[in-house]
Amino acid sequence: MRKILAIAGSNHATSIHYQLVEFTASLIEGAEVTVLDMRGWKIPVYSIDFDPDQTPNEITELIMLMEEYDGFIIASPEHNGSISAFFKNILDWLSRRKKQVFEEKPVLLMSTSPSEKGGTNGLDYLLHALPYQGAEITSTFSLSSFQKNFKEGQIISPYLEDLQSHIGEFMKLILSRI
Ligand SMILES: Cc1cc2nc3c(=O)[nH]c(=O)nc-3n(C[C@H](O)[C@H](O)[C@H](O)COP(=O)(O)O)c2cc1C
Repeated sequence: MRKILAIAGSNHATSIHYQLVEFTASLIEGAEVTVLDMRGWKIPVYSIDFDPDQTPNEITELIMLMEEYDGFIIASPEHNGSISAFFKNILDWLSRRKKQVFEEKPVLLMSTSPSEKGGTNGLDYLLHALPYQGAEITSTFSLSSFQKNFKEGQIISPYLEDLQSHIGEFMKLILSRI
């Protein structure tokens, strides 16, 4: 059975991106999905001065964990037109320990936001940046106006059909890999 790791780049206790990845994980068939919970992580802001002796354990363990998985679902908040500092910091730490940490594995990128734009600026940033770390991005999905379109743990609008088609593309690539 293929294994997928679902990651939300937020440290917000009631994160809407965790809600989105948990719902997305529930839609996946034919693979085992683990939702990684990073909300309690207290990772120091990366500095070359901490490198290489003070790598946080969470980062070392995440690298080993990622090696066990065949693909990734990543949802990140948009903060001030970019991604969250929390997630950017994790990506920077990962890059210093393992340059191609995604190992050319498939990645489905997602975002949402309370606003109509659905966090697409953060998504554009990751679309450009994650391939530097070895991600093979299959597609991007954005959910506008989270509070309007997501109720009681699920997407309640025509966005559901859109998400299912993105999952289809992502799973096709995962299942085609030996
Ligand atoms: C510092 C900060 C900056 C933000 N900047 C944006 C933004 O540029 N665009 C946007 O749509 N939402 C922005 N938001 C609102 C987030 O979309 C909202 O907080 C969302 O819940 C974040 O996702 P999360 O709950 O998964 O952490 C910002 C929020 C914070 C705290």
